[in-house]
Amino acid sequence: MMAKTVTLIDNQTGEKYDFPILEGTQGPDLIDIRTLYGKTGYFTFDPGYGATGACESKITYIDGDKGILQHRGYSIENLCDKSNFLEVAYLLLHGELPKQTEYAQFHAEIMESRLINEQLQFFFRGFRRDAHPMAILVGVVGALSSFYHGAFDLHSEENRLLCCRRLVAKLPTIVAMSYKYSIGQAMLYPREDYNYTDNFLYMMFGKPEHKFKMIPEVVSALDKIFILHADHEQNASTSTVRMAGSTGANPYAAVSSGISALWGPAHGGANEEVLNMLKSMGSVDDIPQYIKRAKDKDDPFRLMGFGHRVYKNFDPRANVLRQSCHEVLDALGMKEQPLLKLAMELERIALEDEYFIERKLFPNVDFYSGIILEAIGFPSYMFTPLFALARTAGWTAQWKEMHEDKTSRLCRPRQLYLGETAREYIPMEKR
Ligand code: SDX
Repeated sequence: MMAKTVTLIDNQTGEKYDFPILEGTQGPDLIDIRTLYGKTGYFTFDPGYGATGACESKITYIDGDKGILQHRGYSIENLCDKSNFLEVAYLLLHGELPKQTEYAQFHAEIMESRLINEQLQFFFRGFRRDAHPMAILVGVVGALSSFYHGAFDLHSEENRLLCCRRLVAKLPTIVAMSYKYSIGQAMLYPREDYNYTDNFLYMMFGKPEHKFKMIPEVVSALDKIFILHADHEQNASTSTVRMAGSTGANPYAAVSSGISALWGPAHGGANEEVLNMLKSMGSVDDIPQYIKRAKDKDDPFRLMGFGHRVYKNFDPRANVLRQSCHEVLDALGMKEQPLLKLAMELERIALEDEYFIERKLFPNVDFYSGIILEAIGFPSYMFTPLFALARTAGWTAQWKEMHEDKTSRLCRPRQLYLGETAREYIPMEKR
């Protein structure tokens, strides 16, 4: 069967150029333009890479029009309903759901790797107490590389997996330590009688002198939030991890760069901004003025938690979180939580407004996650660190896949140059 191609006709010269079509197992086909410059002398122009495929991947599939999100073929709804975060992390890294023995080994390896070198505690002390925990995460995660000098043989699959497990295992410890540091409380060590998510809750909210009361509904809700944030195809922070990793930088440095990218309010920082927005709204009566501001092109304000570069129908994660939000608040006896009532009214008003309907701006994953996290007791400045904790599973899986992909190369985009053309230097006295 003839290979599928597209033909580009240069209307300046009448030249025709054929380019191969690459077909995926799901989703749109891609035009392979790797020979474009060599054949035509042209580059493509796609600020924000909205129409550009940067890599091959088998990890996550998103259909933005149908609101589909799958990890290795399993729907996010199915995984939230039946799996747990550590099993999803295994799935992202290995491509298949683990058998009993495989899961037991993975679980044991992660549990064994949760501690960080005692020296790292001194890194926290260099920060002001009111430092944003994302600043601490960027520093401490990047600094992890200084404790594993010898273990950067990126050509060894076993070593790549070891780095991935270390990062998945240590992020909860570092996130919890950054919180304890910010409130001046004793940092706690992981406990062998807890698993992944419950142990994180213990390290966050436990105290040395008290027996910790674990609430199963809270553990389940947080684990689901971690699953929902685990991976999301080639989003800004994942692309940053791939970009940094493509230079051969070690995975700790690459993930640290991903944490930096995630921090932005247009990306992972939105969950914290949703809470700040709801709190600044105060009451339902204030909603119309915020909707008005969100539409005003001269006002930089955006309705936080609404809109998405890919989802132009609904974010399936928001649907799962909406339900989970009600379950958690019911379990905590907070169903009359004013912020939830305000959020529900804001969602109703926005979804009936022509501006949002026309632009397909629906609630995204960040809209509900903040309300649940606040109800559990996380301060809003910890929301994005939690996102980073969960996304470390996806970042490491994507970083590992990039190193195993024979087509992957050093990332180096080009540009449309609009600056000065060549000119001679003018000595200072003649300017
Ligand atoms: C995440 O990529 C991923 O997968 C990300 C993520 C992941 O899991 O990794 O899903 C996580 O980042 C979720 C998104 C969290 N961000 C927010 O909630 C911040 C608020 N949202 C906006 O900043 C915005 O919607 C973006 C950045 C998310 C997407 O913006 P796009 O795709 O670049 O769309 P755009 O800016 O081109 O907007 C199209 C139109 C514009 O109006 P017009 O110029 O057509 O008149 O929609 C408007 C925008 O002004 N618009 C909004 C809006 N989002 C877009 N107007 C008001 N409020 C908003 N939130």
